[in-house]
Amino acid sequence: MTLPRPVLVVDYGAQYAQLIARRVREARVYSEIVPHSMPVAEMLAKDPAAIILSGGPSSVYEPGAPQIDAKLFDAGVPVFGICYGFQAMASALGGTVAHTGSREFGGTQLQLVEPGVLFAATPTEQSVWMSHGDCVTAAPAGFTVTASSPGAPVAAFEHVSQGFAGVQFHPEVAHTPYGQRILEHFLYKVAGIEPTWTMGNIIDDQVALIRAQVGDAPVVCGLSGGVDSAVAAALVHKAIGDQLTCVFVDHGLLRAGEAEQVERDYVAATGIKLIVADEKQRFLNALAGVTDPEEKRKIIGREFIRAFEAAVPAETRFLVQGTLYPDVVESGGGTGTANIKSHHNVGGLPEDMQFQLVEPLRTLFKDEVRSLGESLGLPDAMVWRHPFPGPGLAIRIIGAVDESRLEILRAADLIAREELTAAGLDRDVWQFPVVLLADVRSVGVQGDGRTYGHPVVLRPVSSEDAMTADWSRLPYDVIAKISTRITNEVREVNRVVLDVTSKPPGTIEWE
Ligand code: XMP
Repeated sequence: MTLPRPVLVVDYGAQYAQLIARRVREARVYSEIVPHSMPVAEMLAKDPAAIILSGGPSSVYEPGAPQIDAKLFDAGVPVFGICYGFQAMASALGGTVAHTGSREFGGTQLQLVEPGVLFAATPTEQSVWMSHGDCVTAAPAGFTVTASSPGAPVAAFEHVSQGFAGVQFHPEVAHTPYGQRILEHFLYKVAGIEPTWTMGNIIDDQVALIRAQVGDAPVVCGLSGGVDSAVAAALVHKAIGDQLTCVFVDHGLLRAGEAEQVERDYVAATGIKLIVADEKQRFLNALAGVTDPEEKRKIIGREFIRAFEAAVPAETRFLVQGTLYPDVVESGGGTGTANIKSHHNVGGLPEDMQFQLVEPLRTLFKDEVRSLGESLGLPDAMVWRHPFPGPGLAIRIIGAVDESRLEILRAADLIAREELTAAGLDRDVWQFPVVLLADVRSVGVQGDGRTYGHPVVLRPVSSEDAMTADWSRLPYDVIAKISTRITNEVREVNRVVLDVTSKPPGTIEWE
């Protein structure tokens, strides 16, 4: 059992390659990202069902601009050029690309010359997202020009019998309303690909791959309470049943109910064998009196490794990790590009732990992991859980961490989560940290008396990937309800403040 023939998305260095690859997956076609520096022979060795040339920052004329090896077009593989990829394709096949001086950035009206195959059943005039300086002024011989825009006389072309098509605009972005349909027309009608990349197929393929990799050896998976490790473990369990043991290190820094959720709901949903290591006291002892955020992280990482090692059954040979495709691409594993970020999914396990890795989510994007979790029958609360940092509440207590401070924060955090859920807004925020300013006190008045309590900060944010974020404009009545409940129900807190900082300059977490 192997993965299906991929649609290769050739990355010309813009931010769009991952988005294009995701859109292809949304069309239920398997995609992979490859760097533009990959030799054509190597691309063809992957037996691609089609190749998509993505946008890029360069001008075709710039010295050093990535060129396309014309051999790509002789291989009988369908090719779709987007933006820079469209111009590079035009230029390689004998069309003309010119520096006309008419640049287009942002929303533009596209005028169809004729719908052809790409634009079938879409309006004669439609909005598209453009980002170009140069433009194609003449299509290569044999191509039909299907659309133009004010700044691009040739804004789309196709040569269906050869399997070639291209567009000057970005079909992958949300600002191009018919973009997904246009991309699907290329995949299904120009390239003749069947949409078979479904959750059912992914599960069947991965189950077979996992069985082939591990045979009858014992396998372990560290559960963090997060989506990725939960789905990875469920998938491995489906493949090998009780050969898998999960280990959950309860460091006592999770939010109210989360440790119980792992033990109760997850085990009930999957039937997985679970070892729970109750290490709350170990972490509290190690963190006592520590206020520096990086010091907290180091301590938690170190203790986590020790606790995990101690809990893993001695005969274990394989370790499951919930590595996702963006991690693989960004670490250079998918594209051969430089190492941008190294990812340590199990809190940086030491190299002398001699496990072989099982990474069943390596080819998947986050949204696919969530669908997979749903298909595997995991509870909604687990599949749709917001990202939560490994060091947990320890980096949401500004000041030293102790059990009483953790209790205050857990109580306030639970109220914020309950009210967000009650308002039906769980999926409207990326994350909603609640932060306890444990060393700050302010004066308040409650009943007849003066209070001198701690503030908590509400930090709801919207984001695509946590790299940048904006503060979420939650309805005032929801904020008001959270504030009233926290100050009424959590005795030690007498003030609730809202963080209205975007990232940058603020980070999402306060520490
Ligand atoms: P920042 O605060 O840097 O956070 O904007 C970006 C994302 O990363 C999470 N985060 C962490 N996750 N260990 C983790 O596993 C950490 O030490 C850590 N620090 C921040 C944060 O919750 C957000 O999703």
